[in-house]
Amino acid sequence: MTARTLTTGLVGALAPTSTGTRPLAPRTGATDGPARVVIDLDLPGATISRHLYGHFAEHLGRCIYGGFFVGEDSEIPNVRGIRTDVVEALRALRIPNLRWPGGCFADDYHWRDGIGPREDRPRMVNSHWGDIVEDNSFGTHEFMDLVELLGTEAYVNGNVGSGTVREMSDWIEYLTRADDSPMAALRRENGRDEPWNVPFLGIGNEAWGCGGHMRAEDYAALARQYATYVRDHGDNQVTRIAAGANVDDYAWTEALMRAIDGLEGRDGRPGPFQAISLHYYTMSGPWEDKGSATEFGEEEWYRTLSRAVRAEELVARHATVMDRHDPHKKVGLVFDEWGTWWNVEPGTNPGFLYQQNTVRDALVASLHFDGFHRHADRLLMANIAQTVNVLQAMILTDPDSGALVLTPTYHVFAMSAGHQDAAALDAHLLLPEEVAEVDGRPLPLLSASASLRADEGTALVSLSNLSADEPRTLVLDLRGRSVTGHEATVLTGATTAAHNTPEQPDAVAPAPLTDVREHERGLEVTLPPHSFATVRLDLA
Ligand code: AHR
Repeated sequence: MTARTLTTGLVGALAPTSTGTRPLAPRTGATDGPARVVIDLDLPGATISRHLYGHFAEHLGRCIYGGFFVGEDSEIPNVRGIRTDVVEALRALRIPNLRWPGGCFADDYHWRDGIGPREDRPRMVNSHWGDIVEDNSFGTHEFMDLVELLGTEAYVNGNVGSGTVREMSDWIEYLTRADDSPMAALRRENGRDEPWNVPFLGIGNEAWGCGGHMRAEDYAALARQYATYVRDHGDNQVTRIAAGANVDDYAWTEALMRAIDGLEGRDGRPGPFQAISLHYYTMSGPWEDKGSATEFGEEEWYRTLSRAVRAEELVARHATVMDRHDPHKKVGLVFDEWGTWWNVEPGTNPGFLYQQNTVRDALVASLHFDGFHRHADRLLMANIAQTVNVLQAMILTDPDSGALVLTPTYHVFAMSAGHQDAAALDAHLLLPEEVAEVDGRPLPLLSASASLRADEGTALVSLSNLSADEPRTLVLDLRGRSVTGHEATVLTGATTAAHNTPEQPDAVAPAPLTDVREHERGLEVTLPPHSFATVRLDLA
């Protein structure tokens, strides 16, 4: 049994309060012998929306340009300018939605500049991200084309910070109206007859910061106004998402919940907006020096994982605020920016937020998903930031050769895809005392979650071993249904900082986990150090 204590004090604005060194308190449920993960296979809970596995693509660095979009004349195989290899890789993940065009960029973006012949489109300055000139060659039609190629759903983020109510109202009409209305006619002039389906629309972004530096009540009033004019045209029903809190600003969530008129609007849905967002990023240092993506020691490893675990606490506490106003959970919480944020890779543009992605990032993702599964009753959607070449990406592309690399985080999404739209199962951890303490917070070195697909007769268990250097044997204590078969997969690397490159694309890649044995309570599993694993169970 191991207990670690990491006491490095307060490490920045996002850090939990440091309480210094103190002995670990006895943990409820501690047992001798291997840890147990107790799962009642016959007690399904809330549905884990597939939208918790959502994505985010901003006009930032090489996410859109060079990442998704290379233009028709590129030597890189593409369909109407959109990279074929990126589309294929993301289709394999079954990505449920894609948020666009920002982020901070959304509140600078005027959609009419991105329609019509490309050579006629006005240019603009992307002031947030590198202060570069944006030529608007990727606009509404290109985005919706991407959505269709990916087989996903559109989450369009509107502009409150520098836009107008009319601009947002016109955009949803342009996108979703079928008849000969002015905006539908304009869309047709630009080559698209049929309306698109747009189920999600963001009412601005980070209104407390880059989206206008507003006070909560001021933004709440604007959100009511803007959302009113985001109409449901024809069959298209929009979930309007108000720009929510930064990290632990519970007063912001409170202000937005107060701004909801009634929980039973005209169509039985809450209004004028139906969901509220939340943003939280994981880093190992303070904002000014977030830490290196690849050069880190044990201390940064555990601190990072401790901060990733904090995401669940944030969801729980924002949900508690929402519960007071909305006990039946009609208003959704949308965690539409999460993931790691490191110092940029040396030698790259600081405004482009390009970073490598290691086994540590993989564990940050798996810990978020465990928390998301446990709060599936309130969480409507979550979007990792961002899909290609920016922050905690699924895919990295080489700017010179165009080579594509799948990151460890991509593999966590792939291995976890079976949780999408499945029913959450409680996974109770009975842990021997194997806990790190980071900045005054206990960090159990094992994390787990599970879900059930009753229709298929299968369950999926996710397991993360947070220990940097020790394997972990645990028992899956499986109750309520007979298990007739299993298949286990593991993701790890030679070190905690292992990552994939064009030269070594599979340094971190899923492999069969063979260290699984029958046990009187179910299965005994040994996880390698710093690893994520899934176990698919076949049920009688
Ligand atoms: O994802 C990068 C940026 O982080 C987004 O543009 C902004 O919303 C957040 O601050």
